[in-house]
Amino acid sequence: MTVRVVLGVSGGIAAYKACELLRRFTESGHDVTVVPTASALKFIGAPTWSALSGKPVATDVWTDVHAVPHVHIGQQADVVVVAPATADLLARAAHGLADDLLTNTLLTARCPVVFAPAMHTEMWEHPATQANVATLRDRGAIVIEPAVGRLTGADTGKGRLPEPAEIYELVRGLLDRDPDMTQDLAGRKVVVSAGGTREYLDPVRFLGNRSSGLQGYALARAAASRGAHVTLVSANVTLPDPAGVNVVRVETTEQLREAVVGATATADAVVMAAAPADFRPTAVSEAKIKKADDGSAPAIELAQNPDILAEISHDRVREDAVIVGFAAETGDATGSVLDLGRAKLARKGCDLLVVNDVSGGAVFGSADNEAVVLAADGGAVEVPRGSKTALAHVIWDEVARRFAG
Ligand code: CTP
Repeated sequence: MTVRVVLGVSGGIAAYKACELLRRFTESGHDVTVVPTASALKFIGAPTWSALSGKPVATDVWTDVHAVPHVHIGQQADVVVVAPATADLLARAAHGLADDLLTNTLLTARCPVVFAPAMHTEMWEHPATQANVATLRDRGAIVIEPAVGRLTGADTGKGRLPEPAEIYELVRGLLDRDPDMTQDLAGRKVVVSAGGTREYLDPVRFLGNRSSGLQGYALARAAASRGAHVTLVSANVTLPDPAGVNVVRVETTEQLREAVVGATATADAVVMAAAPADFRPTAVSEAKIKKADDGSAPAIELAQNPDILAEISHDRVREDAVIVGFAAETGDATGSVLDLGRAKLARKGCDLLVVNDVSGGAVFGSADNEAVVLAADGGAVEVPRGSKTALAHVIWDEVARRFAG
């Protein structure tokens, strides 16, 4: 089915990034109508929007009046995405102004509306902007948290437009899952860990593992698309930052522990999708370890790392928080994959354990996953082979059920 997308563009330097977002929508077969503001055209001209969308472009309500565009564009949309949304646009939208074609469209649209704000940190943090964002969210709009990074000049901070590919993924994920874009995790704080930790032997060598971070990133994206405030603790992952997600980068298990334990204090849910290294060298050489002339290899003494999942599950800061672990099992002489999963669930003390059968290394780096979600109350949900995004949503469904219950 062709989805009718209205792409609103307001007047910020990030308007140029909206060209790529537009391309992503059109190349995926969507019907896109671009509605720029007059200020947006100072950054990127109408011919660019028109050529890329294959449609005429107007900023005011006086063009093609006979077609009543100020009403029809909004009424006919399946989703409205405003990227970038400036402080001014957010203010006008929050107050219901209708002084150009985009603000008229926002008032007539009855479909989901997604704002991707971009502005300087001071403008984003200003109480006026924050109040406008809160108003828009209260009314059901999805306002993506801006990314942290380089701003217009040499300065950095929060306020950057998330990467267009990630805005596209978020909107597509929302549409695929639920055309109404239900925000059932709105107001919830969640922490997701992803990737694999590294334990250094010397400045160039480390012990690591095969975790790609794909499942953790899918979980973070899925939670953000359902309205959660997401902190993603990312260990050595090279994937782009998901839109609207606060990404904290770590390398070692101890750094992962510190970040997860710190964020857990206020979290409604924690999902440990990361693969922390269980062992670390007892000593890290400051200089690169050299090969010995006699052909001998150095013996590496290892110490066990803390078990983060067990720690946050057994010493709960919040009794009502939902804690989810992952278990990669192959099954052995002592039990099947599920037997080992049940035993691990009890040992770790978490509420849910997502058990993957990793015999043959099938899951690592793959876009697909297949799992059983075991619950501490005895329940089990089998998730057939499918995308990591689909599994992520099943996990959040289970978490959301526990919030509701
Ligand atoms: N985990 C953790 N801290 C560690 C190791 C693992 O928090 N030091 C978490 C993982 O993020 C995952 C879960 O524990 O959610 C299961 O990890 P796994 O490696 O399968 O479990 P182990 O406790 O290492 O058990 P095993 O003895 O099977 O290796």
